[in-house]
Amino acid sequence: MKTADRLESLQLSKIRMLSAKVAEMQAQGREMHMFTLGQPDFPTPSYISEACKKAIDDGYTTYPDYSGTPAFRQAVCDKYERENGLKFDEQQVISTCGAAQAAYLVLTSFLNPGDEVLIPNPMYNIYEKIAEICGAVVKTYALKEENDFQIDLAELEKLITPKTKMMVICSPNNPIGGVLTRENLEGVAKIMENKDIIICSDEIYERLVYDGVKAVSPALIPSLREKTIIINGFSKAFSMTGWRAGYVITPMQYQEKLYIHCGFQISGIPAFVLEACTTALNDEPKYNTVEKMRGEFEKRRNYMVEEINKTKHFSCLMPKGAFYIFMNIKKTGMTSAECIDWLIVNYGVAMVTGTIFGSEGEGFVRISYAASMDEIKAGCKLLHEADAALEAMGK
Ligand SMILES: Cc1ncc(COP(=O)(O)O)c(C=O)c1O
Repeated sequence: MKTADRLESLQLSKIRMLSAKVAEMQAQGREMHMFTLGQPDFPTPSYISEACKKAIDDGYTTYPDYSGTPAFRQAVCDKYERENGLKFDEQQVISTCGAAQAAYLVLTSFLNPGDEVLIPNPMYNIYEKIAEICGAVVKTYALKEENDFQIDLAELEKLITPKTKMMVICSPNNPIGGVLTRENLEGVAKIMENKDIIICSDEIYERLVYDGVKAVSPALIPSLREKTIIINGFSKAFSMTGWRAGYVITPMQYQEKLYIHCGFQISGIPAFVLEACTTALNDEPKYNTVEKMRGEFEKRRNYMVEEINKTKHFSCLMPKGAFYIFMNIKKTGMTSAECIDWLIVNYGVAMVTGTIFGSEGEGFVRISYAASMDEIKAGCKLLHEADAALEAMGK
């Protein structure tokens, strides 16, 4: 029996395939320096793990509501009011199995075959694949280095047709670390006026911003408020990748449909995880662990960006958010894929090909600096060696 046609174009995540290949080289005794995975190297803060253990002991082991407990939903609302200046009703919140399933829920709830969806290029690639599963037509809008990774509004306007149903926004963005300015989002809002287009805003990196920059949710722009569905989660800021916890905040008019649909996809996330996440949101101001991790990421970013920009063949902008550097490798004369292979084989440094995230990623590689400072120092030393070797080759 053949599986459904909609699965034909799917492949295993290239980031995971690359990580598996590198792990195999490590198992063969090769020293490798890994800058591939978007996974913080910190343990989950202990007050969150303790809350989970207590919840299991207290009997939070039965079916939860599809959208999470009232306490969880209220904690999400309180967080958004306190930190983002956005007031929501707890009914607007739906718990999800990570931001990844939130994306699946939102896209499969809105996109019919033939609908058009606007997705950033480059972008963490699950959105494109989920849109394809829906039979939707993906149109990408470029986020270019020369434009400080902001949305080119003239290009965006040209991409919109009567079939455009959704625009995906991700700020801070994976893989580029770019943060969209309020002015840029206001430009988007102007284009969206009188258009029936849903904004799907992936805000999973919103707490990880640097140099005093604040990530602005499109929902903060008054005319986008009722059009914006927010996706967020616990993996990145709280270092909880393995907990698989996230959420959607939807305008009230879509709440019932999304709630029912989510019930068919996952029927809720574990009750004890919900308790731990509620504690994470409510008690974080007391423990400040996110801020400590953010501060560490900022130091690592500063060090790495400075070292990269000392080289002749590699360069990068100062990323304002997330924990990625999108390193320009055009002066090496290699393609993104060739450069990745060359660095792995000759220097034991593993990064991710920019093209995994879209055609705009050609000439770039993604570096995740969610790695220890020792790893980062060792990686930078090897990048300098690679740079000297390119110079010796006359590049
Ligand atoms: C932009 C973006 N959205 C969503 C996700 C998925 O996150 P989660 O672990 O919450 O499923 C990731 C993970 O790397 C991401 O980079």
